[in-house]
Amino acid sequence: MEELQSLILSTLDKENTIPDTGKLTNAEGKPLDQLAVYAALNSLALKEMIVFDALESERWTLTTEGKEMANAGSYEVKVFEAIPSGKTGISISELQERLGEAAKIGQGKAFKNKWITKKDNRLFRAVESVVDQTRLDLETILTTNAHPDKKVLTELKRRKLCDKIKLVSYSVSKGPKFSLIVEKYATDVTAEMLQSGEWKTAQFKKYNFEALGVPPLGGHLHPLMKVREEFRQIFLEMGFEEMPTNRFVESSFWNFDALFQPQQHPARDAHDTFFLKDPSTSTKFPAGYLERVKRVHSVGGYGSIGYGYDWQIEEAEKLILRTHTTAVSSAMLYKLAQQKEFRPAKYFSIDRVFRNESVDATHLAEFHQIEGVIADKGLTLGDLIGFMNTFFGKMGVKDLRFKPAYNPYTEPSMEIFSYHYGLKKWVEIGNSGMFRPEMLEPMGLDPDVRVIAWGLGLERPTMIKYGIDNIRELLGHKVNLAMIQSNPICRLDKKMGKEAHAEEE
Ligand code: PHE
Repeated sequence: MEELQSLILSTLDKENTIPDTGKLTNAEGKPLDQLAVYAALNSLALKEMIVFDALESERWTLTTEGKEMANAGSYEVKVFEAIPSGKTGISISELQERLGEAAKIGQGKAFKNKWITKKDNRLFRAVESVVDQTRLDLETILTTNAHPDKKVLTELKRRKLCDKIKLVSYSVSKGPKFSLIVEKYATDVTAEMLQSGEWKTAQFKKYNFEALGVPPLGGHLHPLMKVREEFRQIFLEMGFEEMPTNRFVESSFWNFDALFQPQQHPARDAHDTFFLKDPSTSTKFPAGYLERVKRVHSVGGYGSIGYGYDWQIEEAEKLILRTHTTAVSSAMLYKLAQQKEFRPAKYFSIDRVFRNESVDATHLAEFHQIEGVIADKGLTLGDLIGFMNTFFGKMGVKDLRFKPAYNPYTEPSMEIFSYHYGLKKWVEIGNSGMFRPEMLEPMGLDPDVRVIAWGLGLERPTMIKYGIDNIRELLGHKVNLAMIQSNPICRLDKKMGKEAHAEEE
């Protein structure tokens, strides 16, 4: 390719144009392969170094039989020469013996030319001498690849002595960016080019919009999304409604304050929460509700003495990446409280949350939470425990234990444990509680409305399900895409506890 390109460029440099690349020859004096010429021209033309046009021409060549005849003479002349001059002539069978295949065809032609006559199955010469015009015509074609008489060409083609081939070659002239040196064009902007500033002057290869693309493989669901779908089905079959979780950026107000989480709570600290720089605040909150939240934090109400601190609006206005999906639950419950008449509600969500934690094999700065919320009058802690047994039972997780815990927004709060038969110990699988009146009543919910809620991570069950023990193999830049393509869809094992373990043994 490079050799061909420099041949084309140096020829253009010397002669200004190449009228026909079919006439160019290589270093050994041989004609060029026009397919390779086309490739070379195309790449030069993309760089605007040359312009070129296709030339179509035809070329006549001899068939093997034609070449033989050009060498040794035509069959008709062979027949004529096989017949002795004078009165004796030759018998047809003898001619056949001497000339084989050529005898038949040669006779026909010789008769047509009136060179011979026939009597009693013998052939005689009818003229003194003959000129082998066929051979002369064939020689012309052999040496010039053409013939001045079209009729001759048609006739010889009919006799399968010669054939026409179509030839494509090119006429070339200099383009606007003609040069003897072929510059290597960059195909992509690289990090190095950006750093060195080379991108400003670099020449880029033109896009070839005609090139065929790589066939797409089709999409594949990430394992987390497969497990999410399974959890979603459990919620939906239990009559839950999915909450709109399509906002990663949330105000501190809905993420913390609305949840009766005091402003000096360590979770708000820059260690755990990602704060936004630009825009850094949100100021649109329901005015009356905002006032009630401020009051319950600073002086209490609804039977509570509050925290007794100086609540600051500036703190509530700070925009953050939501640290839990309970931020969505608080906004949904506020909305529920605005309805004229209270209606029981069952909500769930499964989406991403963010925490400014150091990343290790089991922690990422972003992960997914599964959250369920049930609001109804007269719900008790017994309902929460009973409901947890049903919910986790649907996943095959039985034998639950509850341990008192603390959340600023629930009272009582319980961590949920399940016995892991493989690890032979109790493991924490979720967090739950009953939302406090200090959270619900400022929203406008009736004092007898109780809300039970729970949350768990999506990553842990997914990693167990797909046998992944480093979270960085599940999410982030180290993920093996083949793993995502090949993992089967998720069916949560309906027998995960004692029964599954009994089967194993
Ligand atoms: N928001 C809690 C967490 O992030 C989970 C939770 C949800 C707890 C609802 C109680 C009620 O861990």
